[in-house]
Amino acid sequence: MKSGYHGLEALWHDLFWEAEEAPGELLLIDDYLQDKDGKSLYVGSGSGRLLGPLVEAGHELTGLELSSEMAALSRERHPSAEVIEEAWQEHEGRYSSILIPAFTFQLFPDPQKQLQRLREQTDHLYLTLFFPWAELSGDLPQNQWYFDRGIQLPTGEEGELETRHRIKEQTGSLVRKHRYTMRSRSGEIVRQEETEQRLRFFTDVALKNLLKKTGWAVKKEIYNLGDGEEDDLIYVSTLHLTAHEIPT
Ligand SMILES: C[S@@+](CC[C@H](N)C(=O)[O-])C[C@H]1O[C@@H](n2cnc3c(N)ncnc32)[C@H](O)[C@@H]1O
Repeated sequence: MKSGYHGLEALWHDLFWEAEEAPGELLLIDDYLQDKDGKSLYVGSGSGRLLGPLVEAGHELTGLELSSEMAALSRERHPSAEVIEEAWQEHEGRYSSILIPAFTFQLFPDPQKQLQRLREQTDHLYLTLFFPWAELSGDLPQNQWYFDRGIQLPTGEEGELETRHRIKEQTGSLVRKHRYTMRSRSGEIVRQEETEQRLRFFTDVALKNLLKKTGWAVKKEIYNLGDGEEDDLIYVSTLHLTAHEIPT
């Protein structure tokens, strides 16, 4: 399946998150899990960046990860955290709650079908979604490569991420290509890889309609990971959802 992370994208995933200035999601999830009894599932648990500390803090949480490279990193870095290596779409099970942080839900095709399926697996869903304001407003150029972020690798080389995106408004999708380049200290290219992701995005109204239709009620909504002012643009929305009756 295309949505799993591989190669440099998997290897550098955590380093790019560390270089971000944005606040993390760990405390939000830790808080969410406080009143959940029984086993919860973390979909797209990646390298264990959040899963590891949550399990180490005593939460009854299992990771589910499609990419074998990400799952291997997770087991190596956080051996106490169980990770099932499987696509969520093929995973069966019933859980106290399901967590899908860090925009992973937006990688899944057919969101309506996925929300219905989630409804069969749990009554409590934690979802974090992002809205591509910078891409939609034209702040980031469409159809051309731009420098996104750079990191210093622990081995001394430099890691560079360039991005190129396209908006497909009819389907509410952002098609994003990433080009990862590893450069030696003298600037020569050592390794280069490209990946492509298709991310669904939703306006607030469309999302609320979709949730209602699929039997989810919004219990709580946290904007921009709890950071910033009340009237800031909402780039990231974290939803606490509970199962409710599907309207007839
Ligand atoms: C944006 S990353 C987030 C990783 C992790 N949640 C974090 O915040 O560090 C998305 C992760 O979801 C995984 N993934 C994508 N599609 C998946 C699927 N269908 N089932 C399970 N995992 C999936 C990817 O391999 C990747 O590790």
